[in-house]
Amino acid sequence: MAKKVWKQVDKYLGGLLVKPDAARESALAANKAAELPAIDVTPLQGQFLALLVRMTGAMKILEIGTLGGYSALWMAQAMGEGGRIVTLELDPQHAEIARRNLKRAGVSERVEVRVGDALALLPKLVAKKEGPFDLIFIDGDKKSYPKYLEYALALAHAGTVIVADNVVRDGEVANAKSRDGNVQGVRKMLEQIAAEPRLSATALQTVCGKGYDGFVMAVVL
Ligand code: SAH
Ligand code: DHB
Ligand code: MG
Repeated sequence: MAKKVWKQVDKYLGGLLVKPDAARESALAANKAAELPAIDVTPLQGQFLALLVRMTGAMKILEIGTLGGYSALWMAQAMGEGGRIVTLELDPQHAEIARRNLKRAGVSERVEVRVGDALALLPKLVAKKEGPFDLIFIDGDKKSYPKYLEYALALAHAGTVIVADNVVRDGEVANAKSRDGNVQGVRKMLEQIAAEPRLSATALQTVCGKGYDGFVMAVVL
């Protein structure tokens, strides 16, 4: 029942507030045709990321977990031509579809999709001093969120905004005894954020057509 209402409201608000965009719609269609899991951010959440880009004036973005490039596309469109995104993806097939989607959208010059395990790619970004990034979106495998947060801090400057997706997980996040490694990964990252004097953070619970979840959002002081 609740989920049905969330879905209706998500559709209503998305239909009202999110302007249609052929490139984004064909990206979602291509993802579906390639049978990628439908775990991209929703249109309203994509627009939330785009708003963050505009509000912070971010020109350099790091994303962990590309999938078909839908969230990267939202951020790339919001940044405009001078912006640059590095997005990390483990699965070469996902990366290939993302590259195609970003190219079709005319933003591939702004977005570099790097293929590999983010836990191997992130130390290279640090070693090569490719930071700092203005905005970091963590959306890869949830078990590694604690490590992703550490790298995010190493690649940040004062004012960097760090956002991580899927931190509520149908409410399981509040269950300390959860045996789900994804939930424990998220919980550990949240505890790190809470204990980190360099961060000021909040969390936003979200409901949408895809269920009950949320973002944590922090700024580096
Ligand atoms: N940000 C995307 C959704 C990402 S889904 C969007 O909203 O459009 C999570 C992605 O992380 C998947 O494509 C998955 O293959 C990738 N992933 C999982 N483990 C990873 C790892 N260790 N390193 C990099 N990417 C990983
Ligand atoms: C799931 C959702 C996500 O947004 C994600 O990044 C990974 C997994 C999921 O619902 O399984
Ligand atoms: Mg996600």
